[in-house]
Amino acid sequence: MLEVNEMKPTCKSILILGSVSAVARAIAHPFAQEGYSLLLADIETEENERIAQDIRIRYRVWCDTLFFDASDIDSHPAFLDKVIEKLNGFPEGLVICFGYMPVQEQAQKDFKLIKKTIDINYTGAVSILERVISKFEERNHGFAVVISSVAGDRGRKSNYIYGSTKGALTRYVEGLQHRLSSTKVQVLLVKPGFMDTAMTYGLNLPPRLLASPEEAGNIIYKAWKKKKQVIYVKWFWRYIMLIIQHLPRFVFLRTQL
Ligand SMILES: NC(=O)c1ccc[n+]([C@@H]2O[C@H](COP(=O)([O-])OP(=O)(O)OC[C@H]3O[C@@H](n4cnc5c(N)ncnc54)[C@H](OP(=O)(O)O)[C@@H]3O)[C@@H](O)[C@H]2O)c1
Repeated sequence: MLEVNEMKPTCKSILILGSVSAVARAIAHPFAQEGYSLLLADIETEENERIAQDIRIRYRVWCDTLFFDASDIDSHPAFLDKVIEKLNGFPEGLVICFGYMPVQEQAQKDFKLIKKTIDINYTGAVSILERVISKFEERNHGFAVVISSVAGDRGRKSNYIYGSTKGALTRYVEGLQHRLSSTKVQVLLVKPGFMDTAMTYGLNLPPRLLASPEEAGNIIYKAWKKKKQVIYVKWFWRYIMLIIQHLPRFVFLRTQL
């Protein structure tokens, strides 16, 4: 039997960006279990390598890592060349899990934080998606899973800077889905509510509304399997956001949301 480090990637392969995120890890596991080769890319390299090693040992699949900075858009073409080199071709699927959420009050006083949020969450995601999706479209095959947020559904004072980047990402993905509707390329838009991850560490969030990364990963993987287009994680966020979106302005402006 081949040792895991002697294996070659198969054409059933997936590129996960922001792979150190606990949610990304939870999404990676079922794909590895299905026999997918995984290329994990993140700005954090040491922990990423540990995650890859764990996946190789657990599932005996090809799994490798790459450094990736979403905000450095000039590096993206060379990054994708490295992806092709590592996988001996283009991946079958792409998962976008990277994201950055500044402290709202700090960002209001420091435009650098606003720009960083836009560069990572929106510009970085679009730069990669446009390039990868065009390839998928050309071969009429492939899938992308994009993690946006309920924060993009209505601008609220508590996090409208982060929320506006996710709102733009949501609109962008909706447009992509429209563009790809007559092809076999699948794009799943994920809108999580609160998840118990590094991003929300230290925030006082209602436990009943919180999803664990494992729960979230499982829901997202199942939705991808069922070829869904848009999901909320957890399901009740669809209704919470429906109410928030439809609150009359004079009521909404009095809330502390
Ligand atoms: N947690 C929530 O309640 C929640 C709710 C709605 C949506 N989301 C979205 O869910 C996704 C996963 O987030 P999470 O909750 O798992 O938080 P997380 O642990 O902070 O994950 C985000 C990942 O993105 C990476 N990243 C940050 N800047 C990057 C850059 N410039 N280039 C490449 N990678 C970068 C982070 O690396 P470092 O840790 O090294 O910075 C981290 O691995 C994000 O898109 C987030 O916006 C989260």
